[in-house]
Amino acid sequence: MRLNKFLSGAGIASRRKCDEIIADGQVYVNGKVVTELGTVINEKKDKVVYQGVEVKLPTSFVYIKLNKPKGYACTASDEKGRKTIYDLIKCEERLFSVGRLDYDTEGLIILTNDGDFANKVMHPKYDIEKEYQVTVEGEILESELAVMRKGVVVDGEKMPPARVKFLEKTNGGTKLSVVIHEGQNRQVRRMFEAIGRSIKLLKRVRIGGVKLGGLSRGEYRDLTEAELNLLVRG
Ligand code: URA
Repeated sequence: MRLNKFLSGAGIASRRKCDEIIADGQVYVNGKVVTELGTVINEKKDKVVYQGVEVKLPTSFVYIKLNKPKGYACTASDEKGRKTIYDLIKCEERLFSVGRLDYDTEGLIILTNDGDFANKVMHPKYDIEKEYQVTVEGEILESELAVMRKGVVVDGEKMPPARVKFLEKTNGGTKLSVVIHEGQNRQVRRMFEAIGRSIKLLKRVRIGGVKLGGLSRGEYRDLTEAELNLLVRG
């Protein structure tokens, strides 16, 4: 098996990113640094080490959906010592999240040990929608929503159009539904900042056909077969 496929299958990163990690001299095979792209390994016999830890392909797959509460980081170990989503999940397998949510964002996050699946779900080719509920302070004008539907300019870069819809008035605020395809860092917050609005509450409620559903904050469960199919086959 090619080394980049092995690393991405184990959930290290996408194949392309794994090539960068290899070229950068961060991967050891049987005790020796390997920088050659296209290196082939015997996945049953060779010992591959990245960041001081032996990399192994999972033998059985786990797919979980979690309702991430606000105040949890989506990293395995947070440099600021904050709580992470791994504090919420009891699982023997080494899981990683499919994409991330900000520390202050709540809602649906998918975790797995299946690197190929995670890479597929995140790959732009599959163009998977993400739906958020956004609560902003006060009322919002139809003209502001129109700007977002056309594509807001954030830091000189035009964002792709978002599907934005009014949901309801809340106590002193307005709740909207925002659907985007791509997942740039802090994208939804940056879109609202660009029109001079700060977000009071940001919650992801859907990834492709998988909904947050009735999970309460901090609760998680296995994805069903039907949900898995919805994600990888649309
Ligand atoms: N957009 C954001 O701004 N934050 C998230 O956590 C997800 C999408």
